Amino acid sequence: MLCSASFLILLFSLRHACGQNLTTQYGLSDVLPTIQGISYYTSYLESIPSAFSLLTDGNVTVLAPSNDAITNYLANKTDALNDTDVLEALLLYHTIRGPYSLVELERGVQFLPTWLTNPQFANVTGGQRIAVYPTDKGIQFEGGIKIRSNLTTPNQLFAGNSGAAVIHVIDRVLEIPIDESSTAIETGLNGVVSIQVNSPVSPEVIGALGSTPDWSCFIPNRTIIDLKTLPTDVFFDLQEYHFVNGRVYFTTDLTDGLQMQSVEGHNLTVTVASNGTRYINDAEIIYSDYITNNGVLHVLAHEASPNKTDARPDLSTPANSTTSTTPPPTTESSAAPTSSASSSSLSTGAKAGIGVGAALGVIFIIAVLTFCFRRSRNRKADPGAGPRDEKYQVAVEMPHPRGSHEVEAPGPGSHWELDSQQSHPRRVYEMS
Ligand SMILES: *[C@@H]1O[C@H](CO)[C@@H](O)[C@H](O)[C@H]1NC(C)=O
Ligand SMILES: *[C@@H]1O[C@H](CO)[C@@H](O)[C@H](O)[C@H]1NC(C)=O
Ligand SMILES: *[C@@H]1O[C@H](CO)[C@@H](O)[C@H](O)[C@H]1NC(C)=O
Ligand SMILES: *[C@@H]1O[C@H](CO)[C@@H](O)[C@H](O)[C@H]1NC(C)=O
Ligand SMILES: *[C@@H]1O[C@H](CO)[C@@H](O)[C@H](O)[C@H]1NC(C)=O
Ligand SMILES: *[C@@H]1O[C@H](CO)[C@@H](O)[C@H](O)[C@H]1NC(C)=O
Ligand SMILES: *[C@@H]1O[C@H](CO)[C@@H](O)[C@H](O)[C@H]1NC(C)=O
Ligand SMILES: *[C@@H]1O[C@H](CO)[C@@H](O)[C@H](O)[C@H]1NC(C)=O
Ligand SMILES: *[C@@H]1O[C@H](CO)[C@@H](O)[C@H](O)[C@H]1NC(C)=O
Ligand SMILES: *[C@@H]1O[C@H](CO)[C@@H](O)[C@H](O)[C@H]1NC(C)=O
Ligand SMILES: *[C@@H]1O[C@H](CO)[C@@H](O)[C@H](O)[C@H]1NC(C)=O
Repeated sequence: MLCSASFLILLFSLRHACGQNLTTQYGLSDVLPTIQGISYYTSYLESIPSAFSLLTDGNVTVLAPSNDAITNYLANKTDALNDTDVLEALLLYHTIRGPYSLVELERGVQFLPTWLTNPQFANVTGGQRIAVYPTDKGIQFEGGIKIRSNLTTPNQLFAGNSGAAVIHVIDRVLEIPIDESSTAIETGLNGVVSIQVNSPVSPEVIGALGSTPDWSCFIPNRTIIDLKTLPTDVFFDLQEYHFVNGRVYFTTDLTDGLQMQSVEGHNLTVTVASNGTRYINDAEIIYSDYITNNGVLHVLAHEASPNKTDARPDLSTPANSTTSTTPPPTTESSAAPTSSASSSSLSTGAKAGIGVGAALGVIFIIAVLTFCFRRSRNRKADPGAGPRDEKYQVAVEMPHPRGSHEVEAPGPGSHWELDSQQSHPRRVYEMS
């Protein structure tokens, strides 16, 4: 699988490097029926022409929920997909911008923009995001309210006018992210909920609750200060200090030393410990990356104060592990969503990514050079006839790298042959 995935990347690289259309010339409609167990997805897609045509155009990564996933999704809410606006939004949320093969998804935690931009469902510049988590069980995607889905069948390629595209089959329908307060409620962030439920909301941050775009919310799970003792203006300053507007900062954006200007006016400063734990000023981010309809929510261990913008975590006392055999402080870690787990997996994932990336880089350069050289030689030697180059074989096999689902090898006269503008690809197919 890794091998076929590498070939896929190789193929993309070759295409970019040499400006050739070497990827499959099977279109979306050719490939969808060849993938087992996604017929429900296919018929929903076909019922929304705007989404179908967007996907046909290519240059996307399609996350196609399996039939079982859709059946389960509808089990508790039978009418969920009856509304065409909702259905369209859900389909577009499962469509990532740009083609990401398995290898590219395995590079590390990523928050990728999708084609969901309808402001009725998302106010996030560039498109609502989906999280990608490489885990030891494979790739997982995460959407709203922390619901995750596994990638089960990767790398089904198709071609579109805007470029190559990839379909990955997933085993659960992702949720379109909802507003910040509802997200906290649905995911059981009781500390956050109890703080927000009892608090007045500063007019400056009302937009964060769902009506204006691009918010990063850093909400404490509990506060050191007793909020009830604060005069309203002081409370509002404190509250506003926990919101950043104008940019959505996911964990991967929270780099060590980063300064973010809060709505209150003072900056928040990010510190990243060597184990990957992140802090806002001196407050640890205990749960991270709750995707909301207009940004992201992170949960802090306690509040940050605009009066103490220079507060930083004490990172100087880690080395006591040999003497101290006490178990880590009791937390409801089973109930705990992904917090430091995701941030530490990020750092390992990132490291692995660099390793793989470096190795692949060398292979690419060699392959691309070889390919381009051979290609130009072939062109010179034989501009008309199809070169018998084994590299083409790779291209032919790409659409179905697993060999599990047979596409009828397109015989002479089959419909894609009508596409006469595309001269090279046709030769490619004759190889099979
Ligand atoms: C690649 O294909 C697209 C449309 O399918 C076409 O517009 C473009 O000219 C092709 N590029 C090359 C280098 O053949
Ligand atoms: C449907 O509801 C049942 C009972 O409330 C729950 O156990 C199950 O996880 C739900 N299924 C989905 C797909 O949400
Ligand atoms: C939603 O669609 C399903 C399947 O098409 C149908 O059985 C159901 O009656 C519809 N519900 C509403 C409220 O229209
Ligand atoms: C493909 O999608 C990527 C990501 O959105 C974008 O940057 C790129 O311009 C697109 N390419 C084409 C040919 O549309
Ligand atoms: C995804 O995979 C994990 C690990 O194998 C499993 O525990 C989980 O139930 C799977 N999720 C779904 C929706 O099947
Ligand atoms: C979050 O707050 C709740 C209630 O205030 C508390 O029970 C829980 O231990 C807190 N979690 C962490 C990790 O501090
Ligand atoms: C997005 O913002 C517009 C106003 O700018 C608002 O009407 C709409 O409800 C918002 N959408 C969401 C999902 O919050
Ligand atoms: C606050 O952060 C911004 C960048 O977000 C930076 O340009 C500015 O200099 C910072 N202000 C202070 C007082 O550090
Ligand atoms: C910040 O300092 C001001 C002035 O000293 C004080 O009135 C206010 O209560 C402080 N705010 C907080 C949240 O401690
Ligand atoms: C990471 O390091 C910080 C600072 O040294 C420490 O407080 C924290 O408990 C560590 N977290 C984990 C998960 O090891
Ligand atoms: C280890 O912990 C003990 C008490 O818990 C403390 O006195 C000592 O200074 C610590 N040592 C280091 C190297 O942090």
